[in-house]
Amino acid sequence: MPALRIDVATPSRAYAVTIASGLLDGIGASLDALALPARRFVVSSPLVWRLHGSRIAKALGTREPILVPDGERYKQLSTVVRIYDALLRANADRASALVTFGGGVIGDMAGFAAATYLRGIALVQVPTTLLAQVDASIGGKVGVNHAVGKNLIGAFYQPHAVLIDPSVLGTLPRREFRAGLYEVIKYGITSSRALFDRVARDRKAIFAREPEALAAVIGESCRIKAEVVASDEREAGPRRILNFGHTAGHAIEAATKYRRFRHGEAVAYGMLVAARLAAARGALSEDDCQAIAGLVASLGPLPPIGDISAAQILDAMRHDKKVLAGRLHFVLATAIGATAIADDVTERELTSALTAIGLGR
Ligand SMILES: NC(=O)c1ccc[n+]([C@@H]2O[C@H](COP(=O)([O-])OP(=O)(O)OC[C@H]3O[C@@H](n4cnc5c(N)ncnc54)[C@H](O)[C@@H]3O)[C@@H](O)[C@H]2O)c1
Ligand SMILES: [Zn+2]
Repeated sequence: MPALRIDVATPSRAYAVTIASGLLDGIGASLDALALPARRFVVSSPLVWRLHGSRIAKALGTREPILVPDGERYKQLSTVVRIYDALLRANADRASALVTFGGGVIGDMAGFAAATYLRGIALVQVPTTLLAQVDASIGGKVGVNHAVGKNLIGAFYQPHAVLIDPSVLGTLPRREFRAGLYEVIKYGITSSRALFDRVARDRKAIFAREPEALAAVIGESCRIKAEVVASDEREAGPRRILNFGHTAGHAIEAATKYRRFRHGEAVAYGMLVAARLAAARGALSEDDCQAIAGLVASLGPLPPIGDISAAQILDAMRHDKKVLAGRLHFVLATAIGATAIADDVTERELTSALTAIGLGR
């Protein structure tokens, strides 16, 4: 299977996303071809390293990886400091490259370390979860959480390369895999009916982690993310369409203290809310709304939501840093593959969409 290559042309850096099953085993040569510094430091988590580290270690000739924990609760500055400490101990200099090898938590934290260590060293993202492969590794958002909220400390720092090997997804727990798949569906709804239809059609092959089926949906997702990021590096406008399903999704995560749902699962509910709301306004056809609900349901059950009230979600939305100047900027689907931004969504409409998808009043 030939490698897929997607160019990401942002104002601050142009780089490529390469997707190929088995790419991990030739990663040293790939980095050489990109003329990346020969001193390469890998940051990973104990679990990811145990599962897949030997492949990357062999291909890079890495002696010791920098291992840090990757739970969301470790995504904080003190963990980034551990990465700085390890880099300093190894005398990493400007002519060094940092390779992240893990899910979105490792990518965001180690990416932030690369952005700030000696004011920035070369960064290569090698994402190992589906969510990180289709979303977190591309676009240059790096950072950590603060006790006050998620992702409050960070930077825009584009990587020098993103290298995606779908074969590592074979070990990903099914729930994590599904959580990433909801983000794939998101790209379909915002930007590509063909991607949406492909997920519906190839669902079995995708769940079986067949390399070709995976590479196709990952590639199309990355293409969409790359295009949006290139047109709006710092999220001033167009990049906001990628927040489809995220306004309600973030509120659902926050209202349940980030414990009940994986991010993608909360986004799945958020997409159902956004679709229902658009259909109620007549902005989205009832057929497309049903198709969205049908595809989400076909991926498997979501954690229950009936004990949460619409009022709790509205309350959480009021505290969202992305809610601009007190006005809710809501991304609505107008068809499968097209969106519009609405800034006149009322609490009443939201309440009725939330209750329609199963929340309490
Ligand atoms: N920077 C961005 O643009 C962006 C976008 C979306 C999400 N994010 C961030 O990404 C994070 C979530 O990322 P995530 O969903 O990848 O979670 P994660 O990094 O916590 O990984 C989930 C779990 O999967 C394990 N894992 C990773 N790869 C594996 C593999 N191949 N096989 C088996 N297990 C594996 C990890 O050890 C972890 O336990 C959040 O912190 C979120 O804020 C960032
Ligand atoms: Zn998301």
